[in-house]
Amino acid sequence: MSSKIVSGIRPTGNLHLGNYFGALRNFLKLQEENDCYFFIADYHGLTTHPTPENLQENVKQVLAEFVACGLDPDKATLYVQSDVPEAIELYLFFNMNAYLGELQRVTTFKEKARKQPNNVNAGLLTYPTLMAADILIHRASKVPVGKDQEQNLEMTRTFAKRFNHMYQTEYFPEPVAYNFGDELVKVPGLDGSGKMGKSEGFGNAIFLIDDEATIKKKIMKAKTDSGPTEKNSEMPDYIQNLFSLMDIVSETDTITQYKDAFADCSIRYGDMKKQLAADMNEFIAPFRDKIKSIVSNDELLSKIAKQGRDKARESAQRTIKEVRDIIGFKSI
Ligand code: TRP
Repeated sequence: MSSKIVSGIRPTGNLHLGNYFGALRNFLKLQEENDCYFFIADYHGLTTHPTPENLQENVKQVLAEFVACGLDPDKATLYVQSDVPEAIELYLFFNMNAYLGELQRVTTFKEKARKQPNNVNAGLLTYPTLMAADILIHRASKVPVGKDQEQNLEMTRTFAKRFNHMYQTEYFPEPVAYNFGDELVKVPGLDGSGKMGKSEGFGNAIFLIDDEATIKKKIMKAKTDSGPTEKNSEMPDYIQNLFSLMDIVSETDTITQYKDAFADCSIRYGDMKKQLAADMNEFIAPFRDKIKSIVSNDELLSKIAKQGRDKARESAQRTIKEVRDIIGFKSI
């Protein structure tokens, strides 16, 4: 069944393998059967005060990377948040019925406030109302986000309900998280600590734009030890992680060969890492090449942005017109 789906992507950096196997691959499936709105959340990005150059660069890069990975501007509505200012009007309406107490209780706000005590701005506080506006401007009912966004989504439902109740209408849906369930492939990082993520420092994540030498360098630095000394011994987590990466990028025969070598203690981690690096490079290369060609093609990027903007604004303008009417803004 087709649903209206919205998701926002913060323009905070390059996509890595974990992003690809996390949200992105599922976005690709969703766009086939649903009315999807995927946007680059550059307004949200302002809470950390980027420079104008950085802001524009990041937006372009993210757009290029998403398109390179297969998000299709003809299937999904792919747009830049700040190209659709209608959402900001809805944000203002929601803010009139958003209360200081409830906004201050949001975990992500509390965390940010703790991490950046000198920049606890109102935009940070009202992040959940902007997110509600992002979603409800298209009256979407499903939002593919991770667990960390559940509380923000709960706020979206609160604002939708509050609006509906206040104006005695059923205008806004109460959006729920779209759960990927078992389809999520967990990608471990290279530092042996668990999940691939960019915040863990250089070397933990393999980015889709990494060149061959960088990939090799990162993989060769991954934690190993002097190898098993007892046959069929249990695999330490950091070795298991390397095998999990192999599962993603290597041939079955190759994986079996190294698993057998682990079991009979003949494994040489240096060789295994070289193999993993070569296979990883082969996997990443097509993404890297595509990203490079798109990011340097300003004409294509602005065509894609315009196509998304037009579609998104049409949907947003319809909502704003109806919301103004419900609230009682009528031209005199
Ligand atoms: N808050 C989301 C995140 O941190 C990004 C986001 C902004 C978003 N607006 C949204 C996600 C609307 C889904 C729907 O990842």
